[in-house]
Amino acid sequence: MLFSETLITHLAEAEEIVVLTGAGVSAESGVPTFRDEGGLWEKFSPQELANVEAFLDNPELVQGWYAHRRRVVEETEPNPAHRALAALEAQKQHRDGAFLLVTQNVDDLHRQAGSEHVVELHGNITRSYCIDCERPASAGELQTNGEDEVATCPGCGGLLRPDVVWFGEPLPDGAMEEANRAAARADVLLSVGTSAVVYPAAGLPLTAAARGAYVAEVNVEPSAIAGEVDEVVLGKAGEVLPALVEAVREQARGEERVEQNAGS
Ligand code: OAD
Repeated sequence: MLFSETLITHLAEAEEIVVLTGAGVSAESGVPTFRDEGGLWEKFSPQELANVEAFLDNPELVQGWYAHRRRVVEETEPNPAHRALAALEAQKQHRDGAFLLVTQNVDDLHRQAGSEHVVELHGNITRSYCIDCERPASAGELQTNGEDEVATCPGCGGLLRPDVVWFGEPLPDGAMEEANRAAARADVLLSVGTSAVVYPAAGLPLTAAARGAYVAEVNVEPSAIAGEVDEVVLGKAGEVLPALVEAVREQARGEERVEQNAGS
């Protein structure tokens, strides 16, 4: 088996679980990651595209890049990794605060898979808003006739931008606070498909570990913080997570049967 009995037991018995996800969880849906070969940042430099100065300098280019990324996301579907995490949340929904999914992804696939308690640290690419009046923009308002046309707000004429966090920008209000609170309380933190090089997100597993949680990562290769976690599970998220969540379900069922027998 790819993962240990210890991890299964910790997950089965955990009162509070936090899962941190990164681009690797969506890789098997066909959404490019950031730092792997062929990842998004290899074709475009982030300095060029993912910051507000670049957007103001060259809104056509940046809007065009996000329109392309939105199309990629629209054409993709959640994969077995997203669905397994939604199933794990459903298993743990015995009370509020038992499960929090913190994602660095902006692709909306966790929600589409049925995850309910989700903190989107880096925003959501399916939403856009006006950079001046902050009015949310509809999909129709983002449509342009060609590469030279810029999408603007029908209310005030301001440029429309994606609701994602760009370099140098703060995270959405309260998002990191909620994630940190949950990580500090968690019995288990599972970090999935992230290179763990972008902070503050990468600090969450370390916070949880420092507060006594069992911390495991699932990744095709060891991440930057692999040396500091309790267990590294090497494999594709879409293969590891369904097997892991099924094993947790089995173990929890076994424990229920033992309790029932003891009570009868
Ligand atoms: P990265 O591209 O840095 O890391 C993706 C990780 O997923 C790598 O460690 C891969 O080895 C791993 N991986 C790839 N395929 C996998 C699979 N099928 N199963 C499991 N793991 C797999 O992406 P993030 O860590 O998410 O920020 O990057 C963090 C942030 O950097 C992004 O949110 C973005 C970027 O700057 C912003 O846009 C603000």
